[in-house]
Amino acid sequence: MVSVLFVCLGNICRSPMAEAVMRHKVERAGLQHLITVDSAGTGDWHLGKRPHQDTRRILDQHGIGHEGIQARRIASPDFETFDYMVCMDDSNFENVKKLPGAKPELLLKFMDLLPDHELREVPDPYYTGNFEQVYEMIDAGCEALLEKIRAEKL
Ligand code: 4NP
Repeated sequence: MVSVLFVCLGNICRSPMAEAVMRHKVERAGLQHLITVDSAGTGDWHLGKRPHQDTRRILDQHGIGHEGIQARRIASPDFETFDYMVCMDDSNFENVKKLPGAKPELLLKFMDLLPDHELREVPDPYYTGNFEQVYEMIDAGCEALLEKIRAEKL
């Protein structure tokens, strides 16, 4: 199994959106027996909560399931579990790198999947309110990540 963890700050807006979108693409490709997807936050304000209502609304609009997604905090054992840990912004990336037992070689910045995009971080829609912009970035980035996994691991 290849395992992917998306990481943001609160684990209610960006990373659960990426989890749902990536799982949808994996299932559409018939690769669900080979690739697992999860998400986590570096903060702990929303533990156990489902995704933000606007993340759920966007996913619903695109026919992408998000049943059962619950916010959790990233923890050191995640470095033993995942093959790719994809951070939504530079602050997430730096904070994950500082965790005890961190394996920097597993870390990716989400926007490094989209090298031609003008933005180098996924903006936090909790503050910007622009969930549509984030969905477009996540959809394109997850497509690129699936290709990367195919090339590197499958
Ligand atoms: P996320 O957005 O990191 O994309 O889930 C946030 C959600 C909640 C908070 C910050 C960012 N918060 O401070 O509660």
